Amino acid sequence: MKGRLRNVKISDEQKKFASLMISDLQNLNQLASNYNKIILEFCSGTGDFLVNYAEVEPQSFFLGIDYAENAYLRALKKVYNKKLCNCKFMNIYIQEVLDYLEDQFFDIIYINFPDPWPKKRHANRRLVTDQFLYKINRLIKKDGYCIIITDNKWYQEFIDEQLIKLNCYSMFYENSWFTEDEKEFSSTFSFFQSNYYFKAKKLNNKIRFYVLRKINICIQ
Ligand SMILES: C[S@@+](CC[C@H](N)C(=O)[O-])C[C@H]1O[C@@H](n2cnc3c(N)ncnc32)[C@H](O)[C@@H]1O
Repeated sequence: MKGRLRNVKISDEQKKFASLMISDLQNLNQLASNYNKIILEFCSGTGDFLVNYAEVEPQSFFLGIDYAENAYLRALKKVYNKKLCNCKFMNIYIQEVLDYLEDQFFDIIYINFPDPWPKKRHANRRLVTDQFLYKINRLIKKDGYCIIITDNKWYQEFIDEQLIKLNCYSMFYENSWFTEDEKEFSSTFSFFQSNYYFKAKKLNNKIRFYVLRKINICIQ
């Protein structure tokens, strides 16, 4: 599902300012070397979460990845307008980029409102599977986190099933993988409202904030 380009007018200068390609990832270490924390967002959409986060935390470095071109271009424009040097976006399938990312590089990986793909024939498009969570575990720093945020009831149940199969993360909340209390979540972790957050709120859906703490020795 590639986004439509025609709605987004963007100059080369605006595009270049915050866009990263696969070939740039070999310099990611250098690019992020002067920052205290490194945050990755999968499914970054139009960039609201990450751009707001990068604005209030200039001492951290942020990378967003999304395959929807239209959304990605909107994110690039936001970074350019705010002249944020600590926030970059990539327009690519997440699965294509994983092998190019270094071990133990990110403090937190956020997966914000991933598409649920509930139909059986679309099962291979679901991002948050046990296999995916195993795969991204190596990218997270010692004592880092993977955070998944979703309001989709079906996906919540699916994620619960995936988590039972995993031994490379532990629960952050007492006896629970998630909290539905936004205040509780944001008392520890940064959270900024995005398009799909507002959609969830409009529908009065319960949002779950899953927090997976990395276990440092993980046997698959
Ligand atoms: C429901 S939207 C959420 C967007 C944003 N996080 C928000 O909260 O508004 C899901 C996003 O995930 C992106 N996406 C889904 N699967 C992806 C994949 N395999 N690789 C890259 N992006 C993906 C879609 O393009 C879409 O922008």
